[in-house]
Amino acid sequence: MSQTLRAGWLTMGPRTKEFEEAFARYIGCKHALAVNSGTAALHLALEAVGLRPDDEVLLPALTFTATAEVVAYFKAKPVLVDSERSHFNLDVEDAEGKVTPKTRALIPVHLAGHPCDMKAVAEFAASAGLTTIEDAAHALPAQCEGRRIGTLSPLTAFSFHATKTLTTGEGGMVTTDDDVLASRVSLMRLHGMTPDAWKRYSAGGSWRYEILEAGYKYNLTDIQAALGLVQLAKCDGMWRRRAAIAERYNQAFSLLDAFRTPQVAPDVQPAWHLYIILTEPGTLRIHRDQIIEELRQRGIGTAVHFIPLHLHPYYQRVWGYRSGDFPVAEDYFERCISLPIYPGMTDAAVNRVIESLGDIATKFRR
Ligand SMILES: Cc1ncc(COP(=O)(O)O)c(C=O)c1O
Repeated sequence: MSQTLRAGWLTMGPRTKEFEEAFARYIGCKHALAVNSGTAALHLALEAVGLRPDDEVLLPALTFTATAEVVAYFKAKPVLVDSERSHFNLDVEDAEGKVTPKTRALIPVHLAGHPCDMKAVAEFAASAGLTTIEDAAHALPAQCEGRRIGTLSPLTAFSFHATKTLTTGEGGMVTTDDDVLASRVSLMRLHGMTPDAWKRYSAGGSWRYEILEAGYKYNLTDIQAALGLVQLAKCDGMWRRRAAIAERYNQAFSLLDAFRTPQVAPDVQPAWHLYIILTEPGTLRIHRDQIIEELRQRGIGTAVHFIPLHLHPYYQRVWGYRSGDFPVAEDYFERCISLPIYPGMTDAAVNRVIESLGDIATKFRR
């Protein structure tokens, strides 16, 4: 980082290129294009496949609004899909029933970093003629049958937001093996300027550039890329710590009948971006909200991922969704709690979460 600051090249430049190359090597994909957020990565991915007004894009109701808002940028329709009951990822069967002649693309989200059933997703996308864009905001470094997320679909979008498993403060990456898609993303992330126009201020660069499209200002900076390179080198180590915490939580909470621990499918490696437990109906006298409050009083911060999109005013007002439309996602939402999990978490802090939840389970047993 200090080298980057001293070198004086602060915005997109040599460090960004280095970060992209290192990321592509790590993932095992041909191209990695750095951008300034996961949302920008999703937006550019949809732009690269040529999404048009009135097109439809299938995506889960159970996600962050970024997955869907990028569809609305094109005046296309986000068509919400319910979750399956094992990992609460997009339910492919439900998606199949929502295909129309206008459906163009599919955005599966690897919720909490547990990969979707990518075999089922790929078969469905092929049979319906859809392009798959994976929302991998939670899925670094997740794997499916030995292959990293980021290599399985035409386009994958990662996020380096402050809470993510690799962070540059804000940032994102598009990965693809397709040269045409990669050059389109590269063009559109920086004003639609001719390739390598960012070099125009360097000794070897030319001042001349052409504007080929009305592009966006979505580039990552070299300051952020310097952070990203350091984080990438630590990515496996940070994953091992998160996986060890998840293992410890699994052992402890499987002894409590009040909670359901996350299920892991065979042949996948979750990223363990989040560790989400579900309350078991009928076991406790208190609702999830009160459990969160009880944990807060014990000094333990938690979160809820996510309030399903169809319960938000925007998705109801503009797209006509209603409460009750996605029963699995809604039931999940009522029961889910994201517990603390981060690489710097000490064993003592992990034990405190385990003891506190055990205490709550005993105190409020039905
Ligand atoms: C599932 C999902 N998709 C996309 C995003 C957007 O990423 P960013 O905040 O980097 O734009 C997020 C961010 O939290 C997310 O959780």
